[in-house]
Amino acid sequence: MAKHSEFDSPGRQAPSREKFTSTLGVIAATLGSAVGLGNIWKFPYMTGQNGGAAFLFIYIICVTVVGLTIMISEFIIGRHAAAATVGAYKKLAPGSRWYLAGTSNILAAFLIMAFYTTVAGWVYAYAFQAISGSLSFTRPEDFQQAFDSFTGQPWAPLIWQWIVLATTGAVILAGVKNGIERITKTLLPVLFVLLLLCDIRALTLDGAAEGLAFLFKPDFSKITGVTILLALGLSFFKLSVGMGTMTTYGSYMDKNQNLISTAAKVMLSDTLVSILAGIAIFPAVFAFGFQPDAGPSLLFLTIPMVFSSMPLGRLFLAMFFLLTAIAATGAMISLLEVLVSYFCEERKWRRWQATLASVLGIALLGSTATLSTSTLSDFHLLGKTMFDLFDFVSSNILLPAGGIAIALFVSRVLGPRVIYAEATNNNQIPNHRLVRAYYYSVRYLAPIAIAIILLNSLGLIKF
Ligand code: TRP
Repeated sequence: MAKHSEFDSPGRQAPSREKFTSTLGVIAATLGSAVGLGNIWKFPYMTGQNGGAAFLFIYIICVTVVGLTIMISEFIIGRHAAAATVGAYKKLAPGSRWYLAGTSNILAAFLIMAFYTTVAGWVYAYAFQAISGSLSFTRPEDFQQAFDSFTGQPWAPLIWQWIVLATTGAVILAGVKNGIERITKTLLPVLFVLLLLCDIRALTLDGAAEGLAFLFKPDFSKITGVTILLALGLSFFKLSVGMGTMTTYGSYMDKNQNLISTAAKVMLSDTLVSILAGIAIFPAVFAFGFQPDAGPSLLFLTIPMVFSSMPLGRLFLAMFFLLTAIAATGAMISLLEVLVSYFCEERKWRRWQATLASVLGIALLGSTATLSTSTLSDFHLLGKTMFDLFDFVSSNILLPAGGIAIALFVSRVLGPRVIYAEATNNNQIPNHRLVRAYYYSVRYLAPIAIAIILLNSLGLIKF
């Protein structure tokens, strides 16, 4: 049987829930969920596809205004209820239909895991190839070819996806505290240092200036309704909000945690990691003649090329993909935990049953995402491959819709008194101005902004 970890739910009738033990533990766990493939893979390729600096600018507005508001809101719901996502709604609004907001989180978790594990599989495979030395080329087109031929075959990527799922499932079963939390806490700083090293190398490449201009000099004519929708979707995905992850983590925080400042710190650090990844990638894109709009393959072309042009490159390359794999695993743990805690708490399954069922469900659904670059590359639903469809529906529909539900729940159901008590820890933190700003954002700004962008993306209004 699985050991109990701090992420296990003792159940609602238990006398006291386990808690994170320190502020550092809270930040590590939350940041461990936020930092992942979103920073190192998705943020750079989306910035590359959507006009560079203009996209970054909109993204930063989205994370600071909307993403942060929803993160604080999830912490408030979770800590106030002391229960994970579906249970929290049942506890705080008994007899109502609010629990459906939690149920849709479960669907979002499945969809995100379905394509996230595909990319994590590519990362695991690249880590393995870098260690075994089979990734040492010198010409950019060889890296392109290596990526295309790896993802163009059905079996190898599928098997890597299963390895990813088995690893993530095993960590969930072994206990998150002593496994993943300890590993990410020590290794995330190493990833940070390696990113800085890549940045230094990238910045000293001939032609680096063009890449920096692409990332930091906005051309606002590139901004369209779709750009804004994508930036909003990415900000939710990045901060792991709109899906109950942060509600669940909020339920493990004690009453002395400063919710607003914790959320702000996580948001700032996460954004910094994304920008550092951008600085590592864009100078290389231009220096080596890759296209910034290459899409999901971008990371797999530029980073190997950057490292292959420096001393000890093979070693650094192996470390880079290994640490990316670890960061991705940290994020996947938090996604899988939402599913597992739901099946355990609400359906009363045992932890191993819940883990096994979730992993098998994801493997099945996820295989269609993995095969999108090979066997199923011509299979389209709503004009998208399964990989793109899962990504689009989760990031651009389910997460923002979840965000609206969370904002409405906090502002209309819990109301100003609970918000005030939670955000000031019962009047112990003198942050009234911040709380007021948060209150206006959660009551008006965030839900209205999300609703407009969502309606636009569904084609119901046009701008
Ligand atoms: N934020 C993670 C990343 O950037 C992915 C992630 C983990 C996530 N948990 C989530 C995304 C919950 C949305 C919702 O890689």
